[in-house]
Amino acid sequence: MKKRAMHRRVDGETKVEKLVITGGRPLRGSVRVSGGKNSSLATITAACLARDVSVLENVPHCRDVLVLKEILETLGARIELKHGRMKIDARPLYATSAPYDLCRRMRASFYTAGLLLGRMRRAEVPLPGGCVIGARPVDFHLRGFAALGADVTTEHGFVRAEAKRLVGTNFFVPRSSVGTTINLMIAASLAEGTTVLENAAREPEVVDTAVLLNLMGAHIKGAGTDAISIDGVEELHGASYTIIPDRLEAGSYLIAAVATGGDVLVEHTIPEHIGALLTKFEESGAAVERDPDGVRVRAAGSLKAVDVDTAPYPGFATDLHPPFAALMSVAEGRSVIRETVFESRFGYVDELKRMSADIRVEGDAAVINGIPKLTGAPVEALDLRAGAAVVVAALAAQGTSEITAVENIDRGYEDLETKLTALGADVKRVETTEPPQAQQRAG
Ligand code: UD1
Repeated sequence: MKKRAMHRRVDGETKVEKLVITGGRPLRGSVRVSGGKNSSLATITAACLARDVSVLENVPHCRDVLVLKEILETLGARIELKHGRMKIDARPLYATSAPYDLCRRMRASFYTAGLLLGRMRRAEVPLPGGCVIGARPVDFHLRGFAALGADVTTEHGFVRAEAKRLVGTNFFVPRSSVGTTINLMIAASLAEGTTVLENAAREPEVVDTAVLLNLMGAHIKGAGTDAISIDGVEELHGASYTIIPDRLEAGSYLIAAVATGGDVLVEHTIPEHIGALLTKFEESGAAVERDPDGVRVRAAGSLKAVDVDTAPYPGFATDLHPPFAALMSVAEGRSVIRETVFESRFGYVDELKRMSADIRVEGDAAVINGIPKLTGAPVEALDLRAGAAVVVAALAAQGTSEITAVENIDRGYEDLETKLTALGADVKRVETTEPPQAQQRAG
């Protein structure tokens, strides 16, 4: 992805970018997914625990990663990102307070709390706040820091955590939480004694972070199960590590392939990471081929509607709910997608309705009656994955769609239009002078 200013003022007018997609072309060919965005956010922060240099490979050049880079640079780290290789020199990191203006843009900025508490024994980090997909509090993180012996207070929109000594503890994560598990693993790696996280999240991003920390000299066992034990060490050293492929990006391209009646090989992905999605494809009648380095899907004939409940890993990923709903909008029959992780992940619904989708929200579920064809329309990418939903819908629709608030999509999809164009899609990024319709939302 090239560096872009999303909203620029030129000659008194605000320039904004849009994606213009003319749908109806089946996607065909192969696409290589980038490194995991969520994994990168966790591992880059974890690498800063060492007063040393680390090198991460397969880091995607997307906005969230660039924002995190800036946050860590503000704290004193020196970071370079070139062609997916990130060199992180965390020796000069000195600050204990993270900047509000950058942190408010991204929830994963709260990983700096675990980093600073672990490394400096003191952290002052802005509350990430709620966002468009739900309240997303950080109460579990704070309870975990307190259990490690930190004095934790929240004042004037900042969390302050301080500890003379961080001491290992048993902590039951109240509800499967990726962010809490990662933040506590980061802080506990430099605590005294053993921390056991019960009911820990099992997501591949948790495992990736633990693998990197262990390469840095940490003693973490059990990542990938719901009981993780962390034997604290006095210091960590630098390491080199290649980040896992982005399972959510992979899932998004596969969904787009099926929605357009296409035939696509998504390369450099780990099929087990998207097992629940692949099973749903099979139930709905798409052909799925798994191989060690990729997944091919073919949508032959019409697709049957299927029901989905989102769930923590290895269940159906909540981030794939919006694009999957776009797919179900053109399936045969009625589909119910129940959201169990985030309470307000339905922002995409009104956007899909603009494209003629027959979809409504009932409690915690989207109820979708499939129709033969969506129609192109002006729509907005309300958040990152709602953005994926409108892209999938636009690719499958008859006619042209104009997608605004593209900056939300750019948070997590590297080179989106290049990759889609290579698969035969008609997609262009254009600059217009319309006023921005949406503020960027934390996610
Ligand atoms: C991460 C992912 C996000 C994904 C989500 C669930 C990153 C950067 N983001 O978000 O893409 O959708 O996992 O797989 O990796 N909760 C609390 N209190 C807390 C923490 C969480 O109530 O202190 C709740 C949340 O509101 C949510 C649930 O727990 O309802 C799970 O959230 P969590 O797994 O923590 O999500 P994130 O780590 O924020």
